[in-house]
Amino acid sequence: MKVVAVNGSPRPMGNTFQAIQTVLNVIESAGIETEILQIGGLDIRGCIACGGCSDGMCVFADEAFCTWTHTLEEADGILLACPVYYAGIPGTMKAFLDRIFYQSGGRFRLKVGASIAVLRRSGGVATFDQLNHYLLISEMIVAPSFYWNVAHGRQPGEVLEDQEALSVLQNLGQNMAYLLEMQRRTRDELPPPEPVARAWTNFIR
Ligand SMILES: Cc1cc2nc3c(=O)[nH]c(=O)nc-3n(C[C@H](O)[C@H](O)[C@H](O)COP(=O)(O)O)c2cc1C
Repeated sequence: MKVVAVNGSPRPMGNTFQAIQTVLNVIESAGIETEILQIGGLDIRGCIACGGCSDGMCVFADEAFCTWTHTLEEADGILLACPVYYAGIPGTMKAFLDRIFYQSGGRFRLKVGASIAVLRRSGGVATFDQLNHYLLISEMIVAPSFYWNVAHGRQPGEVLEDQEALSVLQNLGQNMAYLLEMQRRTRDELPPPEPVARAWTNFIR
């Protein structure tokens, strides 16, 4: 089994990395493989709503984007993490998530997911909610912890002083590992339900 984390910070060894690693350490100690995709700081364009991804791949997919797609679709669990910029998801991460999730067409369905927002002071829960929107609309099983996954720090490494956040993240790691093990053990006896036929009305017709 494997959990893939997406780091949306342009600082590869910054606070977001430390928060991710806190979760992944627990997951690895449960015998689950992990990988981090370093997305923040790259030059990633946004979605242009062309609908060309209806065949499963974004029209702008280059080699790196195809590799990220494959890595995430092969993963059993996905962890989205980013710093808070202007009380929201940083632009590069948003561009990445819009394109990766819009093309995914149900391929993340019932995978285990979780999100983390990292910040200096304010906008944490709003960003955490934004990240969770990608997981929930993809029918992913969102792992819980005993608080929302928001961790504080400004300069790289400061997040390691937020003791409560570290405990929240360690607990999240445990719960992700538990859900993954539960899925592994029941895979053969309990196939997932077929999705209900969707009524798509755009509110007016
Ligand atoms: C452009 C920009 C916008 C930011 N906006 C916010 C914000 O709205 N709220 C906040 O608490 N921190 C904000 N910060 C601070 C970062 O979220 C904080 O330093 C975080 O720890 C950075 O994580 P990193 O080390 O993983 O990059 C902002 C930082 C930058 C560069």
